[in-house]
Amino acid sequence: MHVRFDIATALLASILPVTLGQHIRDLRSEHWSLSSRALNQTVSAQFPSQVHLDLLEAGVIVRSCPTARIVCAKHMWRYHGLNDFNLRWIADANWTYTSQPIQDLLDDFDSTWLVFDGLDTFATISFCGQLIASTDNQFRQYAFDVTTTLRSCKGDPVLSINFGSAPNIVDAIAQDPDSQKWPPNVQITYEYPNRWFMRKEQSDFGWDWGPAFAPAGPWKPAYIVQLKKAEGVYVLNTDLDIYRKGQINYLPPDQSQPWVVNASIDYLGSLPDSPTMSIEVRDVQSGAVLTSCTLDNVTVSGSSITGVTVLEGLTPKLWWPQGLGDQNLYNVSITVTDEEKHSVAHVTKRTGFRTIFLNQRNITEAQRAQGIAPGANWHFEVNGHEFYAKGSNLIPPDSFWTRVTEEKMSRLFDAVVVGNQNMLRVWSSGAYLHDFIYDLADEKGILLWSEFQFSDALYPSDNAFLENVATEIVYNVRRVNHHPSLALWAGGNEIEVLMLPLVKAADPASYSWYVGEYEKMYISLFLPLVYENTRSTSYSPSSTTEGYLYVNLSAPVPMAERYDNTTSGSYYGDTDHYNYDTSVAFDYGSYPVGRFANEFGFHSMPSLQTWQQAVEPKDLYFNSSVVMLRNHHNPAGSLSTDNYTNSAVGMGQMTMGVESYYPIPSKSDPVANFSAWCHATQLFQADMYKTQIQFYRRGSGKPERQLGSLYWQLEDIWQAPSWAGLEYGGRWKVLHHVARDVYQPVIVSPFWNYTTGSLEIYVTSDLWSPAAGIVNLTWLDLSGHPIAGNVGTPESVPFTVGALNTTRIYGANVESLGLPDTKDAILILSLSAHGRLPNSAQTISFSHEDHFTPAFPKDLAIVDPGLKVEYNNKSQSFAVEATSGVSLYTWLDYPTGVVGYFEENSFVLAPGEKKQIGFTVLEDTTNGAWVRNVTVQSLWDQKVRD
Ligand SMILES: *[C@@H]1O[C@H](CO)[C@@H](O)[C@H](O)[C@H]1NC(C)=O
Ligand SMILES: *[C@@H]1O[C@H](CO)[C@@H](O)[C@H](O)[C@H]1NC(C)=O
Ligand SMILES: *[C@@H]1O[C@H](CO)[C@@H](O)[C@H](O)[C@H]1NC(C)=O
Ligand SMILES: *[C@@H]1O[C@H](CO)[C@@H](O)[C@H](O)[C@H]1NC(C)=O
Ligand SMILES: *[C@@H]1O[C@H](CO)[C@@H](O)[C@H](O)[C@H]1NC(C)=O
Repeated sequence: MHVRFDIATALLASILPVTLGQHIRDLRSEHWSLSSRALNQTVSAQFPSQVHLDLLEAGVIVRSCPTARIVCAKHMWRYHGLNDFNLRWIADANWTYTSQPIQDLLDDFDSTWLVFDGLDTFATISFCGQLIASTDNQFRQYAFDVTTTLRSCKGDPVLSINFGSAPNIVDAIAQDPDSQKWPPNVQITYEYPNRWFMRKEQSDFGWDWGPAFAPAGPWKPAYIVQLKKAEGVYVLNTDLDIYRKGQINYLPPDQSQPWVVNASIDYLGSLPDSPTMSIEVRDVQSGAVLTSCTLDNVTVSGSSITGVTVLEGLTPKLWWPQGLGDQNLYNVSITVTDEEKHSVAHVTKRTGFRTIFLNQRNITEAQRAQGIAPGANWHFEVNGHEFYAKGSNLIPPDSFWTRVTEEKMSRLFDAVVVGNQNMLRVWSSGAYLHDFIYDLADEKGILLWSEFQFSDALYPSDNAFLENVATEIVYNVRRVNHHPSLALWAGGNEIEVLMLPLVKAADPASYSWYVGEYEKMYISLFLPLVYENTRSTSYSPSSTTEGYLYVNLSAPVPMAERYDNTTSGSYYGDTDHYNYDTSVAFDYGSYPVGRFANEFGFHSMPSLQTWQQAVEPKDLYFNSSVVMLRNHHNPAGSLSTDNYTNSAVGMGQMTMGVESYYPIPSKSDPVANFSAWCHATQLFQADMYKTQIQFYRRGSGKPERQLGSLYWQLEDIWQAPSWAGLEYGGRWKVLHHVARDVYQPVIVSPFWNYTTGSLEIYVTSDLWSPAAGIVNLTWLDLSGHPIAGNVGTPESVPFTVGALNTTRIYGANVESLGLPDTKDAILILSLSAHGRLPNSAQTISFSHEDHFTPAFPKDLAIVDPGLKVEYNNKSQSFAVEATSGVSLYTWLDYPTGVVGYFEENSFVLAPGEKKQIGFTVLEDTTNGAWVRNVTVQSLWDQKVRD
């Protein structure tokens, strides 16, 4: 279902309430300039903006593209070569954004305010030549009363915002003897040190997949708001909470209860006496009014007004994640009126009716009776239904948020939907996502597991720091709470599973003190802040956790964490799995068994075409200094600009992955060889993820009752080796195609224990009702001839697979099958089934293909498949055919100048088989000429010398 929705109109509606008695000046419309002592000139600036982008626009950072041949989109310029190191002078300097004198400010106002939706990060604000305030949190909204400043303005009303150098400021904080200190070998530095002292995107200081530009600037809009007393208030933020009556965050909501709508508005100005609140709820698609009513129990507390109503007897259409039902949306308009029924505040939020619950409760007797192992649950339930969460982890899609446009995010989320993913984990630390990004997720049905911005570090625990983050958390929880896509709040990333063990190893004597510090912040402080501002969202103190023992809201630590208080044979929480020992990459025994896999992966190189966006032709080889210095795994751990030692570890891991399992490319043309190597690392990556995803999904029918697979990571922030499935600029790696394939609802998967020879074939389904069908099993030699008698393997096996379950359809020992040559054999698995999608009465068919070879690709006796590709103008698709042998890892590739994706890729083709494959064009600067430069290759091309 696609809901038409105009984001721009909605944004305007939510930020520019049309209310009498207000004068709101959007500072985007002023003329701005940018200056610094580090730069002997003043350049014009955008607003919102970040310094690097204005310098780029002004030509201060050279815009040259690496090669004239490459069409170099404007948004890619900044990541050129070693700019990660060469542009540090920008991060080391202070920068000032200065407005022209602001005209037309009202004289007959009662109050004037400066409202900033986001300043990144250490900002000093002056207005009319007077110091107004300093800020130190990128994630907060700030409002300052400048009424008297404006009244006494001597010169021009000029606004200037100075951004101090974040790297220098945190270094100064770290040097301060009064600042908190931690034991050595605990804190994790990527490039710039001391990131834990700032409330700024932590990956701005570098991460193992990204650069460290440490940008600064007014990254979100700002306003001058002028108000007249008792004629209306300015809406700063709105918390719209929709839940089932009686719902409590950590308990499963009762789906038979009516919906409750709780609306709360944070405002500037003063409300009249005895304000009333009302809402109108309108179906976005039909425009029909579901209800309009006044709210009960209206209270004004501080500068927030809150009211609540129960929608007795109303049954709005539910919102579902994609693949599980429709994304029904409603507009809720909230109006605050005075005693004369004049509107003093009005805001509309688009929302949906759903419950989403993270079930971490103990396994019950009834679950035990179903064969589920003891311990605790750890899975999501939407509208009361368990489901399999399929997806990946979202990192910041760009180093510079001001160029993360709606178009870019919409395209990224389309790849998520097409990729059969229903959930993304919005990793900290990053930034809290903009509303428009949640809006897109609401429309497309993508659940966003959201996190507070704390990651892989121990943070200060002094009161000033805690007060700062408390404000940040309350603001963001309230801001995005109306989005049905919001799936969870988690306190931070890898704090429980990584930071606590690190500090335990470094300073065992102080360990319990650090656990206390952890609980003070992530549980005693954050949990009540979440629960007080939303009843519709679950909270977990840390992502990757063994879960909790119990919740007791009147205890000083209201959630008692389980930590390592576990029993073997029981399963509790979610798992995080990285193993760079490639010798066990395909060994199921090395994968974690748990209730949910929220992170796992291995890095690979981007394609040649993506490298060409940023790297000079002379540097396009595997271990060139530029390629190595753009590889940040393992991280330098410092500002070193010659990190070959650590980078060599990560480059070596990719090399080992290829050399252990795949033909080793050795092309005579160096660029072709580089390209083949990049591709080979992607084959290893994709196979490793596929094996793990199939293993985790099969777990839905095993004692662990595994109900989630979110791989690391969805997309790239720049062009470099990383765990991503989508390259910077939008090109799909092999991984995204393969994940799309194994995230289909009903899949057939081979499980091979290469040590014992045991082969088992499973059908796994995440439908909510049983599915039935057959799997054809066909042994071929690699020239494509059937193997005699199918070596005793049944040619087809019927099956029934239960709801959210798995079934073993075949088992054999490969050694004893009597294959003439295990290096010259492939088993083609072809499933066809019928069943019903969740929330659908219609029976539809499902198909899935997979294959198994009883040897790793490098050992296979592959022959030239004689691949052909032809473009058909009429059907606008590519006909791909193997003419002389089995084509493994058949790969269609498209040239630069176009961005898009093939509807299928990295597949097996038997000789004589012809596939018609379409291509979705997202961007084309070649006027259609690109179709002539589409190529097809396979494992054979990786192996042959030229
Ligand atoms: C700054 O610019 C002025 C005038 O254009 C010039 O005289 C001066 O040498 C420049 N200083 C530096 C450090 O470039
Ligand atoms: C930069 O700004 C910080 C405050 O944000 C200030 O302490 C420092 O002195 C400034 N440095 C320069 C060179 O202006
Ligand atoms: C309003 O407050 C009263 C008294 O606390 C309570 O009984 C009632 O349930 C509240 N109404 C709603 C809609 O929550
Ligand atoms: C869950 O089980 C643990 C024992 O593993 C127990 O300590 C805890 O109290 C139980 N929690 C609840 C909510 O019953
Ligand atoms: C482990 O959990 C049990 C309850 O299941 C509790 O009684 C015990 O105190 C816990 N032990 C630790 C070390 O937390």
